[in-house]
Amino acid sequence: MSFAANNPDQPRPLRVALAGIGVVGGGVIRLLEANRDLITRRAGRPVEIVALNARDRNKDRGIDLSAYNWVDDMGALAQSDDVDVIVEMIGGADGPALTLARQALGAGKALVTANKAMIAHHGLDLARIAEEKDTPLKYEAAVAGGIPVIKAIREGASANEIARVYGILNGTCNYILTLMEREGAGYDEALAAAQAEGYAEADPTFDVEGIDAAHKLSILASLCFGTKLDINAVSTSGIRNLIADDIREAEALGHRVRLIGMAERDAERGLYQRVQPCLVPADHPLAYVPGALNAVVAEGNFVGRLFFEGAGAGAGPTASAIVADIIDIARDEYGPAFAMPVEALDQAPIADAGARIGKHYVRLVVEDRIGVLAEIATTMRDAGVSIESFIQRGNGSNNGVVIVLVTHEGPADAIQNAAASLGSSDFSVAPPMVMPILAL
Ligand code: NDP
Ligand code: HSE
Repeated sequence: MSFAANNPDQPRPLRVALAGIGVVGGGVIRLLEANRDLITRRAGRPVEIVALNARDRNKDRGIDLSAYNWVDDMGALAQSDDVDVIVEMIGGADGPALTLARQALGAGKALVTANKAMIAHHGLDLARIAEEKDTPLKYEAAVAGGIPVIKAIREGASANEIARVYGILNGTCNYILTLMEREGAGYDEALAAAQAEGYAEADPTFDVEGIDAAHKLSILASLCFGTKLDINAVSTSGIRNLIADDIREAEALGHRVRLIGMAERDAERGLYQRVQPCLVPADHPLAYVPGALNAVVAEGNFVGRLFFEGAGAGAGPTASAIVADIIDIARDEYGPAFAMPVEALDQAPIADAGARIGKHYVRLVVEDRIGVLAEIATTMRDAGVSIESFIQRGNGSNNGVVIVLVTHEGPADAIQNAAASLGSSDFSVAPPMVMPILAL
């Protein structure tokens, strides 16, 4: 297979093959075409698309692909001597994306990927292959879309010990929460809008259940703490049980609801990693991050608090991150995928997220009848949960009455278990919602 002609008067082009021409792949082609000259000057040589691959050759992708070589066999791309870089934009932790990644790195090709699921599950194995073959494995687009946070932590902040990293890591969820907050949109309507914008994963439950954010958090945690990636150590819950009252009640309490991923290393308890909807104080910068934007906060022991914000999803921002990786490869600038060789990463003990102490917001929807409040108070007392404030607004309709409790500081598990027990009682008419109230 031969794709590119050599021109002895030009520096050797970097020859890239693109696998997956959907939202992200289409964005990469548009960006490489639109900024071709600038990219050539910045990369020190032309970046040439020498092959494309996706499932359906005949699909209308809204881009003229007639100038490019279409290849049906991805394995051949990985083996070809005429390809320097494979850009994987297919998605999925396993399957064709992983097969291609292994083939590409195994053949000594550079690999660029936007696939956080694959990196979260197989990043260490892929990094080992990349090290053995001394070839780049780059994944800037996998975390927080267009924000260059991988580069910032891997390189800019690499001298620091990082105590905590947290932020808004899923554009779809933030977009849904913002539409619910600002326009009173219903959850389903807001999710459909996020899908139409191309933000959501192929399976949007990955977004709304917090799994996508967990993938990204596990990658950030490894980079920040020098630990081995461990997606199974991230405890995860999503936004699916949120109702409009949660957004309003959070505001009344001086907070906003955001899906927050947080990782913290504690010398005694180990590494805590958690994704869950939280109440963020209205005066914290994270409360002001709207729409599909993402934001990441990293606290370094010498640099202090770093705050990164930008588009976390969508064709343009994700393409920006992918092409930045390609430019680095063109310049021959790369190092170990997780900032140090895999063997130097340590295995942190898993801290129990349920033991974490904090104030919590608990929302119940219950039948409005005699004895229900007494039952709630008794269940909380029996669980050892102390209540700071209690709100019931108006009369209950047939759909029940909303009750919001703010707890004093207590262990997350005890509060969650008490809420679950109330949720399973005969007076409960909707799943309860428990969210930590962050003191950031
Ligand atoms: P899309 O679903 O829009 O595109 C996926 C592409 O992969 C399509 O072109 C599809 O082919 C191709 N594909 C799927 N299965 C196969 C297969 N078996 N063999 C060959 N090609 C296949 O996804 P996105 O572009 O949104 O996402 C791609 C990756 O980027 C994912 O890992 C995602 O998590 C990540 N990402 C996405 C962001 C976003 O905002 N969308 C942001 C950051 C990362 P065909 O078109 O022919 O069906
Ligand atoms: N589905 C992801 C999100 C895409 O909504 O954030 C970016 O990783």
